[in-house]
Amino acid sequence: MDFTLSEEHLMIRQAARDLTQNELKPGVIQRDIDMTHPSEQVKMMAEMGFMGIMTDPQYGGSGMDTLSYVIALEEISKYDNSCSVIMSAHNSLVCWGIEKYANQEIKTNYLTKLATGEMIGAFCLSEPEAGSDATSQSTTAEDKGDYYLLNGTKNWITNGKKAGVYVVIAQTDRAAGHRGINALVVDASWPGVSTGNKEDKLGIRASDTSSVMFADVKVPKSHRLGNEGFGFKFAMKTLDGGRIGIAAQALGIAAGAYELALAYSHERKTFGKPINQHQAISFKLADMAMEIEATRMMVYRAAWMKDQERDYATAAAMAKLYASEVAMKTTIEAVQVHGGYGYVKEYHVERLMRDAKITQIYEGTSEIQRLVIARSITKGAPYLSLSA
Ligand code: CAA
Repeated sequence: MDFTLSEEHLMIRQAARDLTQNELKPGVIQRDIDMTHPSEQVKMMAEMGFMGIMTDPQYGGSGMDTLSYVIALEEISKYDNSCSVIMSAHNSLVCWGIEKYANQEIKTNYLTKLATGEMIGAFCLSEPEAGSDATSQSTTAEDKGDYYLLNGTKNWITNGKKAGVYVVIAQTDRAAGHRGINALVVDASWPGVSTGNKEDKLGIRASDTSSVMFADVKVPKSHRLGNEGFGFKFAMKTLDGGRIGIAAQALGIAAGAYELALAYSHERKTFGKPINQHQAISFKLADMAMEIEATRMMVYRAAWMKDQERDYATAAAMAKLYASEVAMKTTIEAVQVHGGYGYVKEYHVERLMRDAKITQIYEGTSEIQRLVIARSITKGAPYLSLSA
C-alpha cells in the first residue's frame, strides 16, 4: 500500500495553502465579526478552479478527483470555514448532482456557470420541520402536466442569499412516501422565489445561511433531476458526497487548531521552559497529532472510495462523524493550550472552536451518521475499503 501523494495532489495542497495564508487568513477575523460574505475570496477560489474542482472540463470545471477536493478543503478550513463551506456545498451538493443527473440543457445553462464560479449554487433540503427526518417534506411540487408548482419554505440553506440556482427537494405525491419526492433545479431569478435574512450564527459567520421561500414557482419538468420520484434517493446520494466535504472541513479545522497550538507551545514559556516541555501540554499535542492522523486516513479513504466508484456511503458517514468529533475535541484543547490568549479572537483558535460545532450538525447530525453506520453494519454491508 502506497500512502505517497501524487505530484498533482501536492501541487493542489501548496496552491490551497498559499491561497489560505495570503488571501483568506488576512481579514478572516473581521469577516467573522461583521458576518461579511467573502465574495472576493470566493472569486479567487473560482480563479483557481476550486468552484468546479471535480466538474468535467467540458463544463468549465477542473476535472480533478475527490482526493484533490478534500486536500484543498482541508487547507482552506485551517483558517476560513466560511469559504470552505461555500466551496463544499457548491461542489458536492449542487455541481455533482447536476453533472450526474441533469439533462444537457441544464448542464449548458447552469453547470457551465457554476463550475467557473460565475454562479453560486445552493441545496435546499432542510425545512423548519424536516431536518434529520428528511422524508417529511412539507414543500410541495404539484404535478401540473408540463411543469411543477413549487410551494414551501427551506431553512438553514448554505449560500441561500447568494445562490443563482437552487436544487430543491419537494414532495409531489405524499401517498408514495419517499418515492413521491422530486429534486428540481430552480433559478433564483424566477417569480415566487425569495430569501429570508442572513442567520447570525455561532460559527462560519461570514458564510451566507438563510431560509429560501417558494411561492407558486413554475418549474418546467425538464428541470427535474433523474426520474419522477427519485428526489429522496438523489438527496441521500448527494449527501453521501457532501459528507466527505464536511469531513475534510472538520479535518482542516482540527489540523489548523493543532498547528496553531504547536507553534504557540514553542513560543510560550512557563517555569523557565517552553510549555511543550511540560507533559501536561506535550501529551495534549501528542493526542491531537494522533487523532488528526487517524482522521486524515479516514477522510482520504472515503474520497478514494468515491473515486474508485465503490460504495462509499458508510465510509463517508464514518469519516464525517469521526472528523467532526476530533475537530470539536482538538479545538477545545487548542484553546486550552493557548490559555487566556486562546479565548481572544486574535489567536484564531476560538473561531475554529466555534466553527467546529457546525460539522457535528450539518449534512446530517452526529446522531444521523451513527444511524447510517449502524444500519449498514447490522445489514452486513461491506464498508471497509479492503474488504469491499
Ligand atoms: N443512497 C441511495 N439510496 C439511499 C441512501 C443512500 N445513501 N440512503 C437511503 N436510501 C434509500 C433507501 O434504500 C430507501 O429506498 P428503498 O425504500 O427503495 O429501499 C430510501 O432511500 C429510504 O431510506 P430509509 O428508509 O433509510 O429512510 P429514513 O427516512 O429511514 O432515513 C436518513 C434516512 C438516513 C435518516 C435520512 O433521512 C438522512 O440522512 N437524514 C439527514 C438529512 C441531512 O443530512 N440533512 C442535512 C441537510 S443538507 C445540509 O446541511 C447542507 C448544508 O447546509 C451544508
